[in-house]
Amino acid sequence: MAGFDSRAFRDALGSFATGVAIITSETAQGRIGATVSSFNSVSLDPPLILFSLARSAFGITHWRAAAHYGVVILPDDQSDMSNKFARSGGDKWSDLPVQRMNNGSPLLPDWLAYFECEPYANYDGGDHDIFVCRVSRFETRKGAEGPLVFFRGRYAALDRGSSVPTSPEIDFALHGW
Ligand SMILES: Cc1cc2nc3c(=O)[nH]c(=O)nc-3n(C[C@H](O)[C@H](O)[C@H](O)COP(=O)(O)O)c2cc1C
Repeated sequence: MAGFDSRAFRDALGSFATGVAIITSETAQGRIGATVSSFNSVSLDPPLILFSLARSAFGITHWRAAAHYGVVILPDDQSDMSNKFARSGGDKWSDLPVQRMNNGSPLLPDWLAYFECEPYANYDGGDHDIFVCRVSRFETRKGAEGPLVFFRGRYAALDRGSSVPTSPEIDFALHGW
């Protein structure tokens, strides 16, 4: 687009810190997986989440055809796993102890939480596809580990000693939905 600096746009978007998730599925062609920072919550009732995937992704046709998905939220010691699933193409699954979620999606060994879901709606997201999925089951592991954070193109861990509670006035908006 003329007059629009895509590099600066990407850099500005990178100012929004996110967690890191690996989305997984298994189709007739085998296991698929990709690292995403575009995971987000959408709806409690029905329980919906979303992620977006580049149309240029090697596995995009398989993702579109998949009957189920898994979303694995990574702890802060999993940057190598994030990099492994961010390398386009190739076998991302070799040398990995993989279990299965109830819906058949592959489950990686280390996670803070994971979600099993089924396709709900797909939207045109420009050069990405937006996948909205309905969650059928989930697990949370409440331990000492913090989340893997992605900020301005780098991984980070949270300094949780410096965390501050949200204000009571906004508690309803945050937790009352
Ligand atoms: C931290 C991080 C976050 C990423 N987030 C996304 C994302 O939200 N959407 C996306 O399409 N690609 C994202 N990527 C790139 C994909 O992980 C990568 O292109 C993926 O391996 C494509 O899979 P495939 O080409 O093998 O199908 C991210 C990469 C990293 C390292």
